[in-house]
Amino acid sequence: MNPSLPRPLRIALSKGRILEQTLPLFKAIGIELLPGEQASRKLVLDTTRDDVQFIIIRATDVPTFVEYGAADLGVVGKDVLVEYGGESFYEPLDLQISRCRLMVATPKGYQPGLTARPRVATKYVNIARDYFARQGVQVEVVKLYGSMELAPLVGLADFIVDLVETGNTLRANGLEATETVLEVSSRLIVNKAAMKMRHQQVTEMITQLRDHLEA
Ligand code: ATP
Ligand code: PRP
Repeated sequence: MNPSLPRPLRIALSKGRILEQTLPLFKAIGIELLPGEQASRKLVLDTTRDDVQFIIIRATDVPTFVEYGAADLGVVGKDVLVEYGGESFYEPLDLQISRCRLMVATPKGYQPGLTARPRVATKYVNIARDYFARQGVQVEVVKLYGSMELAPLVGLADFIVDLVETGNTLRANGLEATETVLEVSSRLIVNKAAMKMRHQQVTEMITQLRDHLEA
């Protein structure tokens, strides 16, 4: 690489289920991982465009990399963005992938009001605290890192705040969704300095993705 050129545009992608739907989006605008990159142990991955690299990281880390400029752009769920909070990056595009809802769910037949301060198990503690505070409901929020649906089954919590797509996980565990907290899809986010310093490169990418989504 020519050292006098700026480093490639770095895009942070969320690992896991979002990635499966993100790679085809970039492929549609002519950006693909080079063969062998994904299977390698490398963390900064080269693409078919010399001026674009991907980093593939945990979804919850994407906002941090983009806020600090370690990545210029990122792809991440709206759930993760709202939980992260603040206004430290731009969010120019709804990529319309990984759609689901963040919902409150309880065991079927749960009677609200029986417990003075019910416990809520969730990965989204900030969103849950904020949501119940706005409703004027006093709750104790218990942080979990996965398998939220288990919590009411084993007496850890009265209800949960978690993502629902098909509803299969809730049904399989005798739970039902009662309220929607947030409509979720994946978003493109942009570091504020990169939007200024790499304006042309960044806006071209936003336009290409937008045109593809609208086509
Ligand atoms: P982490 O690595 O931070 O623990 P995770 O294991 O929860 O994340 P995933 O389950 O792949 O990672 O979820 C990542 C994102 O995918 C979520 O933040 C959400 O935006 C979206 N998502 C999660 N579950 C679903 C679902 N069932 N349907 C659609 N989108 C989902
Ligand atoms: C997510 C989410 C729910 C499930 C909802 O979990 O946390 O458990 O998907 O999808 P459904 O409504 O289609 O059943 P995931 O499969 O990502 O596993 P996790 O609990 O490890 O996050």
